[in-house]
Amino acid sequence: MKAASTLELITRTPLLHLDKLSGTGKGKIYGKLEYLQPGGSVKDRAALQIIKDAYQSGRLSKGQTVVEMTSGNMGAGLALVCRQFGNPFIAVMSKGNSPERLKILHAFGAEIVLTEQVDGGPGMVTGKDIEQASRIARELAEEKNAFYVDQFNNPSSITAHFETTGPEIWNDLNNIDVFIASIGTAGTFTGTAKYLKSKNRNIVCIAVEPQNTAILKTGRVLNPRHIIQGTSYGLVPPHWNSALADDIITVDDQEVERVTKQLSYEQGLYVGYSSGANVAAAIKYLEKNNAAINIATILCDTGYKYTDL
Ligand SMILES: Cc1ncc(COP(=O)(O)O)c(C=O)c1O
Repeated sequence: MKAASTLELITRTPLLHLDKLSGTGKGKIYGKLEYLQPGGSVKDRAALQIIKDAYQSGRLSKGQTVVEMTSGNMGAGLALVCRQFGNPFIAVMSKGNSPERLKILHAFGAEIVLTEQVDGGPGMVTGKDIEQASRIARELAEEKNAFYVDQFNNPSSITAHFETTGPEIWNDLNNIDVFIASIGTAGTFTGTAKYLKSKNRNIVCIAVEPQNTAILKTGRVLNPRHIIQGTSYGLVPPHWNSALADDIITVDDQEVERVTKQLSYEQGLYVGYSSGANVAAAIKYLEKNNAAINIATILCDTGYKYTDL
């Protein structure tokens, strides 16, 4: 594969049959290797689309500063995309995110503003932590006359997945039966599920939540802390479209940790906890529906972004 620029490397990730984790039945789990993107995560897709759309609509101009609240992955994507477009980038990030994320943002040339946690802890960023970081990011953007990305409300992230992730999965696996994804802003789930259902409305689309932070499934948050960084902040994200979700599978920290480790030991894929959560949910689905079905899910980011992996 030959590419003319770094931005051209974003999208078109491989879809791998997870042969070591699909079990002994006839069903197969496929993982979309988003951790191979230049910024190390699925968020590169949304970052590129957001910046392209902002230029196209005239909301962003050459040299103008870009500001965003991030758990690290969107920040890495935006930092590298903004550099390629010639825009300075400021990442506003809760202190609960791993120091590895900070290091990556520095390496990509972002300026970083760290915010105190409200009720989270190290490696566990809650909805309140996110709300606080978002408020500070919004104020900073106003002060600097910068473009505020606002990933939770920016529809370009849905467009990115509707136009790229969905078609890529469909082209690589057109006998797909089930799509599974965890929820941060819900951009990945909503955009991809919408595309897949437009091709075949019988494709079952399933969201994943931590057992005690299952607000989409139960309407309640028993505990805002869990290990699936970058997802499930105990709030209903504006991009969430319940009509696209046929089911929601919950997973607990122990099984997420176990499956994330299996992905590296057994499958040779060094990925983060949301990848483990997605595959744990896929394994649960296969155990319940023992049939010759094809499940596609997302391996969202690289394990290098985590302290304890
Ligand atoms: C590690 C990780 N997994 C999953 C997601 C979920 O992606 P989305 O925001 O598209 O729902 C994110 C989002 O930041 C993430 O950082």
